Amino acid sequence: MQIVLDYLKRNQARFVAELCAFLRFPSVSAQPQHKTDMLACAEWLAEHCRHIGLDARVCPTNGHPIVLAKTPRSKSSLKPRFMVYGHYDVQPPDPLDKWTSPPFAPRIQGRSIFARGTTDNKGQHFAHLKAVEAYLKTGTPLPCDLTFVIEGEEEVGSANLAKFLKSHRRELLCDAVVVSDTGMPDADHPALTYSLRGIIAFEITMHGPSRDLHSGIFGGALDNPAMALSQLLAKLRDKNGRVAIPGFYDDVAPLSAYERKQFKRLPITPAELQKLIGVKKLFGERGFTPFEQRSARPTFEINGLTSGYQGAGSKTIVPAWARAKITCRLVPNQRPARIRKIVCDHLKKICPQTVRLEIEAGHGAEAYLVSPKSPQAQAALRALREAFHREPVLLREGGSIPIVNDFKKVLGVDTLLLGLGLPEDNAHSPNEKFDLDCFENGQRMSALLWRELSNQPDFP
Ligand code: BES
Ligand code: MN
Repeated sequence: MQIVLDYLKRNQARFVAELCAFLRFPSVSAQPQHKTDMLACAEWLAEHCRHIGLDARVCPTNGHPIVLAKTPRSKSSLKPRFMVYGHYDVQPPDPLDKWTSPPFAPRIQGRSIFARGTTDNKGQHFAHLKAVEAYLKTGTPLPCDLTFVIEGEEEVGSANLAKFLKSHRRELLCDAVVVSDTGMPDADHPALTYSLRGIIAFEITMHGPSRDLHSGIFGGALDNPAMALSQLLAKLRDKNGRVAIPGFYDDVAPLSAYERKQFKRLPITPAELQKLIGVKKLFGERGFTPFEQRSARPTFEINGLTSGYQGAGSKTIVPAWARAKITCRLVPNQRPARIRKIVCDHLKKICPQTVRLEIEAGHGAEAYLVSPKSPQAQAALRALREAFHREPVLLREGGSIPIVNDFKKVLGVDTLLLGLGLPEDNAHSPNEKFDLDCFENGQRMSALLWRELSNQPDFP
């Protein structure tokens, strides 16, 4: 093992240069104009996997391709097999004028590397690739077989990977999935995440007049869709921060006393959180701490709001339509299909007669919850402890990784969420970054993890 760890230590500068090459691809899955960049990024990644000694191929889908890479076939079929999942797609970099340096021109400053997709998620799964490289290039036998599945549609709901899992089930069967696409509370607290929130996405459009109208000639005699939409949205949250949709909380699993106690032990205070996110004052559901609110309680969030004229100066119109992009975060026991139905029914019920309401459904996924006490989770905690020289914490997190539910349903296995991101990494925000210490510790964690996971009593 020492020879693997020494290899990692010796090669950090090259690893960072390689990560920069990976980050230069503008692999934005949501935007059709980046389709060829997505393919080029997948090809680069597969080639890099081959270069470090893996058998790799680019698998086409109806959307963006999936990169599949495996450790060379071992003679012994008795070895456990683990899957490492990650995503090479990134969120749109907008607003561009808020970036200190261009989002796809990686910049290193101190121990941080800035670019879109550094922490979410290229840097994180690249750490696992570098760990396996260390085994392969030093001729150290791996105690297990590994399959890397790096997809290009995580940020848009993973619809094609879910199909791919079913059609390639036999090839992808494994003993557990390992994912580094979550966070740690700070650089001194490595973390095992045992719960994620689910999600439903949709768009509501309110249609008013058949075209934008002169607001002087017609305004006053018809409803304004932007106003009607604002009023409708304003009814959906009450003053206590609760979602005001009947039945929304019906199935929500309550937090155990043990969990509420765990939350109190996290190293970041509400005041620090307020400073980090730059708000005047925090706001959330009454009766819960900010940490509970953002990881273990459901939400109704407006992600985008558009209507009328957005250009310079003024334009006197009554807009023809208004639109809101919405996502609800869900918690364990809430069923996405049911929540989607009660939200739609409620919207239809409270929509005024003066406008026509259109609802377009988007992606959806259940929340994820797994026992942090399982032997696999304990093995992961040992690897974290040894790699970071710190005691790991257990986290529930608020983000979503839709595919982890399919890993359980289709392959029957749990996912170990071993995140390397920091709260200040600016995931989905301008000036996204990744900490180079997290990168290096993550590589070590991955190298140690295969030993810890493979040495469990349930394996020969
Ligand atoms: N890495 C995140 C998920 C995440 C972030 C989990 C922080 C826990 C803590 C992932 O890339 C992501 O952003 N997922 C999307 C999924 C959605 C588009 C279906 C999300 O959570 O918004
Ligand atoms: Mn993301």
